[in-house]
Amino acid sequence: VGSGIAASLVPWRSGHAGPPEREGSAGRQARGGVDWRKVAAQFSFAPGLTYLNSGSEGSLPRRLQEQFSAALKRWSASPSFAFFSDPELDQAQKINRARLADFVRAPAGDVVITDNTTMGLAMVLMGLTFSRGDEVLTTEHEHYALLSPLNVLAQRQGVSIKKIPLPSPAPSVDALVEGFRRAISPRTRALCFSHVNWTTGLQMPIAEICALARSKGILSVVDGAHGLGMIDLDLRAWGCDFYACPGHKWFNGPPATGLLYIRDARSNPWRLVPVISEGSLLLSDTLTVADALQMRGSTNGPAFVTLARTADFADAIGKRVIEERIGRLADEVKGKAVTRWGQGCLFSPHLDADKRLRSGLSAFVPSADPSAAYDAAFVSRVADRLLTKHRIWVRTTMFPAPAGSPGPQINTLRVSTNIFNGGDDIDRLFRAIDEATAT
Ligand SMILES: Cc1ncc(COP(=O)(O)O)c(C=O)c1O
Repeated sequence: VGSGIAASLVPWRSGHAGPPEREGSAGRQARGGVDWRKVAAQFSFAPGLTYLNSGSEGSLPRRLQEQFSAALKRWSASPSFAFFSDPELDQAQKINRARLADFVRAPAGDVVITDNTTMGLAMVLMGLTFSRGDEVLTTEHEHYALLSPLNVLAQRQGVSIKKIPLPSPAPSVDALVEGFRRAISPRTRALCFSHVNWTTGLQMPIAEICALARSKGILSVVDGAHGLGMIDLDLRAWGCDFYACPGHKWFNGPPATGLLYIRDARSNPWRLVPVISEGSLLLSDTLTVADALQMRGSTNGPAFVTLARTADFADAIGKRVIEERIGRLADEVKGKAVTRWGQGCLFSPHLDADKRLRSGLSAFVPSADPSAAYDAAFVSRVADRLLTKHRIWVRTTMFPAPAGSPGPQINTLRVSTNIFNGGDDIDRLFRAIDEATAT
């Protein structure tokens, strides 16, 4: 499939890339010596498109597009050899799993390559055994990828799903952990929550919540849709039992790729059974539940090996450097929104809140009028105008409003700032919002 991606990225770290594109905290020449213009040049967005929606889909860099095509050609040349015997393309995926496990700081055998977050969450929630009356604790800010399998558990097995509210903006790490602690009952079997909420971009204190679960003998399932590629993941140390994430969002891997982390897959403490697998009859000391979940008939080996190469791409820049860059860009978005429309417009954690709660997602209403947040049509109109007139992709989100609010749900624009974005994209966004809200 070729190699040398990491080597080809080394020049990006050079300090001789010329002047920053624009001054300011989110200029292209960031700390760490990375020339962000060269990083952005690796992406092949349509001319004139400003892409601020990595929370839905990222984009595959050119080098990795080439690697993907090369892998597809190799598969096409001898498909059965590829499936049974090619160590990078074969069904077991041991080499790619080990590379990706290393990237998320997990033991090699504890990672399964999946198609997306949705698949990983369903593998866990459909593969665990619940009893009627068991309780699962989740939040009011979850995505349908988690709510859907929870709904199946409720309907089919009589599991009670309890949703705790999350104030927006969130107060503190301690308050969030306390919210879970208070809601736990003797029937609680699982805590299921997003690492970063798709609605407001609140980053949950994953290590603290998982430690709480562990201390009570409760299992933890994390929806990591906005983790991989945005945050420097340390899955083993954080102590979650299951973590499902995509390769195709912030990480900029190929479409329809993802990872599922299973803590201690070999001893399998929660007795997960492998659904969507050819391997449940083969489980043994040498074939773990993670290995069995990798055996799913034909899978997209060319995409999976490219996903492993995406880890090389990110490592060549630096995981911590990427996390800081994304955080700085997002802080610039939040700061600009508050400057224009006041503190009340921002539903993401504020800049004066604990930094650990913030993420690369920024959710705000482009208006100083507090009632605008309840006007779904207004927020959609602005998003549509940004796309159709200015070719800027953002998305809208919605989530339950607190009791006593003027409407049932809050509506926001959601902006994702990834490694291919820069301060100039943010300037363009706010100029376009000004135009879109002027009429
Ligand atoms: C929080 C969250 N979970 C799950 C998903 C679904 O992700 P995937 O496409 O990887 O299944 C999304 C998609 O936007 C999301 O925001």
